[in-house]
Amino acid sequence: MKATAIANSNLAFVKYWGKKDEKLRLPENGSISMILSGMETKTTVEFLANLKKDDITIDGKEDNGRVSLHLDRIRKVADIKTRAKVISKNNFPSSTGLSSSASGFAALTLAGTKAAGLNLSERKLSILARKGSGSACRSIPGGFVEWKSGDKDDESFSYTLFPKTYWDICDIVCICSSEKKDVSSTEGQKLVSSSPFYNSRIINIEQKLIRAREALKKRDFTMLGQLAEEEALEMHAIMMTSKPALLYLLPSTVQLMRFVMSERSNGTEIYFSLNTGQDVHILCKESDKDKLAKKLSEQDYVKKIIISKSGDGARLTEEHLQ
Ligand code: DP6
Repeated sequence: MKATAIANSNLAFVKYWGKKDEKLRLPENGSISMILSGMETKTTVEFLANLKKDDITIDGKEDNGRVSLHLDRIRKVADIKTRAKVISKNNFPSSTGLSSSASGFAALTLAGTKAAGLNLSERKLSILARKGSGSACRSIPGGFVEWKSGDKDDESFSYTLFPKTYWDICDIVCICSSEKKDVSSTEGQKLVSSSPFYNSRIINIEQKLIRAREALKKRDFTMLGQLAEEEALEMHAIMMTSKPALLYLLPSTVQLMRFVMSERSNGTEIYFSLNTGQDVHILCKESDKDKLAKKLSEQDYVKKIIISKSGDGARLTEEHLQ
């Protein structure tokens, strides 16, 4: 059977950076995020009896094996041995810090399980997607999402805190370079305990989760924006003080961070967030979106912008990729 799924990327306000179980991808702490409506992966999976090995095409390129490993997990749940043909396309550049693994593994999990004849619940899909890439478990449910860290495999999954229509805040993603990051999130996270600041992060993380839930509950943009920016800086401080040090920021990333700070002091309330990479997420109110998008497009260090609101969780479509 052939199945196709679409899943969106997500932006974490409270970040996932560090695992307590590498193999199961159990995170050191819970995290809270929003689905990004403008950033989609579409994936078609078909299990074919005549294939000797998985035939995987991702945005026209061959894959490195991580997808095949995830197909093995799906085959195990479905109790089948058949190899699969997988075609996947993103509507945004991958591997520059835009969390393509989140939308990618969420779409693969939904399309793969459906193509294997399974009908898993949202919770089971989230648990399975997590094992492909941690942040992918937050791209299964829609809207504003919390990932409960959990101590066991079946306790670590994501669910919707508030639906996408709850709040119309925007995320303008600014792509500052098409350069691929040289250390992946998976590799980077292995270094967390070498940073002298990681322990204090973990001690204070519960407070941050409480603040994020509170900010969402009250639709308090100032509270959420300040927290998101603090988090991005703290995570990059940990990256930079890991041994060896991880420096993802490019000069254009810092220019954008300074742009945000200067706009803010001039009265437009905006905040930045960062992931593993150079690109910058700018959180703004709906009423400021058009003016900001225009201004950002005029900056020579901004290559492209993608505007998102909170979006849908992973879903099936009948429109298959070839
Ligand atoms: C900085 O989910 O890509 O985007 O589980 O090893 O695949 P793996 O890592 P991944 O890490 C995402 C890290 C982050 C923060 C976040 O999205 O919470």
